[in-house]
Amino acid sequence: MTEPVLDVHLTPEDAAVALRAEARAGLTAYPKWVSPKWFYDAVGSRLFEEITRLPEYYPTRAEREILLERAAEVAATTGAHALVELGSGSSEKTRLLLSALRDQGSLREFVPLDVSSSALVEAARAILADYPGLHVHGVVGDFTEHLDLLPGTSPRLVAFLGGTIGNLIPEERAKFLSSVRDVLDGGEWLLLGTDLVKDPDVLVRAYDDARGVTAEFNRNVLRVLDRELDADFDPDDFAHVALWNAEEEWIEMRLRAVRPVKAHVAALGLDVTFAEGEELRTEVSAKFRREGVERELGAAGFELHRWWTDAEGRFALSLARAAA
Ligand code: SAH
Ligand code: AVI
Repeated sequence: MTEPVLDVHLTPEDAAVALRAEARAGLTAYPKWVSPKWFYDAVGSRLFEEITRLPEYYPTRAEREILLERAAEVAATTGAHALVELGSGSSEKTRLLLSALRDQGSLREFVPLDVSSSALVEAARAILADYPGLHVHGVVGDFTEHLDLLPGTSPRLVAFLGGTIGNLIPEERAKFLSSVRDVLDGGEWLLLGTDLVKDPDVLVRAYDDARGVTAEFNRNVLRVLDRELDADFDPDDFAHVALWNAEEEWIEMRLRAVRPVKAHVAALGLDVTFAEGEELRTEVSAKFRREGVERELGAAGFELHRWWTDAEGRFALSLARAAA
């Protein structure tokens, strides 16, 4: 079988250097934090896929519902030759866009970019097998750093699905959206998935499911630190916490020490202590309103062209054009 083309802009060595720097900053800060980008080793990527199938985790189903209804319109409006997908993961829902672009005859190239090489390679191979003749050009990279290196023939459609933009804090979002705008020519397109503000009980359940899959996903970041930084965190020392921050309008995931913890991070020569009850922030997942999305897109140089939600109004897809 033909293999997808793969560019590696984030080598395992680069990732190790970045993780060391971030872990040192986050584990010595108060309150302590780690970036959610480290969730996605092979185990974390599989746990995320399991989350998408949980009854409580509605965003994936809601976004798929919108794509099923609107993919043909996205294809007709954009006429894209290249579909670039940021934080592509399994690229499962993306198939709806690929099929619509193929069916109208414009699609030439698919460029998935992800920090997780295992998820990327698996997805790129599966897409290549199912879309014969499509040029699949995967990029292992960080979407906060490597956008200027993206391949793809104009006109391009950049898809950023799943609500992953909500995992960036507002300043990171503004910088990220501006850098997407900078790599696009005027008139090219961004398709952005955003989860919407709703009943906090529904939100908290989506991030604290009954089977405990999200708890495992959260604790897996400690296994990543143990393996990559030769640390000795015991995931059983930490409880999963998901709470709604009404002021910021985001879900926060944290790991709370259930007893006093002393861990050694050998790669950093660092001892880290947690008092009982002390928390490590591992993720924010911001929820949006239309006005906020339109404002943030506008500030970055995009014009909102279409706004679609699922029937229950839980999740939105925005189709935005890079201003001339
Ligand atoms: N787009 C898919 C996957 C969402 S999970 C969906 O809608 O279901 C988030 C994905 O973004 C993961 O595959 C993760 O590896 C990737 N990711 C997280 N932070 C990243 C970063 N900074 N750069 C590139 N990819 C990142
Ligand atoms: C990838 N991202 C949009 C997910 C979210 O909903 O914020 C990650 C996730 N965290 C817990 N469950 C899912």
